[in-house]
Amino acid sequence: MNPVELIRKKRDGGALSRAEIEYWIDGIVDGTIPDYQTSALLMAVYFRGMTEEETVVLTDAMAHSGSVFSPDDLPGFAVDKHSTGGVGDTTTLVLLPLLAAAGLTIAKLSGRALGHTGGTIDKLESIPGFCARLSKSRFLDQVRRHGFALADHTDDMVPADRILYELRDVTSTVDSLPLIVASIMSKKIAGGARGIVIDVKTGAGAFLPELEDSRRLARSLVAIGTSLDRRISALITDMSQPLGRAVGNALEVVEAIETLRGEGPADLTDLCCELGAELLLSAEAAAARDEALAHLRRLLSDGSALDAFRRLIECQDGEPAVVDDPSLLPRALRVVEIDAPASGTVARLDALSIGRAANALGAGRTTKDDTIDPAVGVEILQKVGDQVDAGAPLARLHANRETNLPEASELVRSAYTIDPNGGAHEPPPLIVERIGP
Ligand code: URA
Ligand code: CA
Repeated sequence: MNPVELIRKKRDGGALSRAEIEYWIDGIVDGTIPDYQTSALLMAVYFRGMTEEETVVLTDAMAHSGSVFSPDDLPGFAVDKHSTGGVGDTTTLVLLPLLAAAGLTIAKLSGRALGHTGGTIDKLESIPGFCARLSKSRFLDQVRRHGFALADHTDDMVPADRILYELRDVTSTVDSLPLIVASIMSKKIAGGARGIVIDVKTGAGAFLPELEDSRRLARSLVAIGTSLDRRISALITDMSQPLGRAVGNALEVVEAIETLRGEGPADLTDLCCELGAELLLSAEAAAARDEALAHLRRLLSDGSALDAFRRLIECQDGEPAVVDDPSLLPRALRVVEIDAPASGTVARLDALSIGRAANALGAGRTTKDDTIDPAVGVEILQKVGDQVDAGAPLARLHANRETNLPEASELVRSAYTIDPNGGAHEPPPLIVERIGP
């Protein structure tokens, strides 16, 4: 076998065999296949696509390209949730303790912020002392003893994805469905969860804004996960406006604490319960969706979910007192209000512009090596459908540096469209569609 044959076969529209795909992935990781040949093969895949069978094999080969957890390494029924990325998407911070309180095992490997979307690890690291860099043995030990852990991907897991992603990024081959699916699912498979729910965002702030693309992605993720013996479902959910009210690292931790106390924004609370219900059903920990939803809501209102969050913070060296006193979290020096230019109804609140505003303030990264400011971000006061008076605040900017305030203010202003006639503007449905196996 040699790389030129693989490139030719895919270039001419053929399907690669299991042996060929495994040869490719092995060659990427051990360095025997040079980047220029992998780049050519990626471009051939971009134009020719991959069959479902090829995508399953690619996912599996990538998942096993480094260190993996098998479902048998994890106690109980381990579950995982993945989001394709959004603005102010605080769900993992809420869902992880909520599911732990419901008795499921969660061994979650998470990512950092990149582009206009936030990352769970960065959010948790705004808690003083919180440690997300766990060794494999500490991670497993914590999961076995406490039922949950949340850590950064270690460098020895799914190395093929890191190499491929960097090449895709510089060869304009990121937006290929089989490559996206294999990239996402290889990391889920390597994490060892038996039950998986994928939150596929759709709308302006999503990685794939068009519903038809989100649907194709959701169907393919579910098909590939099912072929690899996972219980998996996907919810396609709205990301045309930000989720909840907080966008920014420490701000979202505060929002998560409120939600875990049963006092969070309705959209964030509903989405966490719906995603959680998918996992309770996959674990057979509830007989029906209504029962699962009612159980999760009870855990939010009776303090169990908040207790679990306190335990998670404690296990990972963080300051658990933040749960009762959020003023212990980093706070920005200045809070600036953005006022409504006219009276009327909020007709549009563009998630992408809000994500960019939070980044302009320093909440995110444009390159992998940027440092983030945990204190800054955007607090949304008015969302689609809300009635506003001229001069009343629409949003608050939490800022530490004067220099980027004008850009962030302009982005937040441009995110809002106010209908001066005060017509009714229904917010888009939160859960657009459920995709099961
Ligand atoms: N997220 C991933 O992890 N990989 C992709 O290729 C795209 C989105
Ligand atoms: Ca939020």
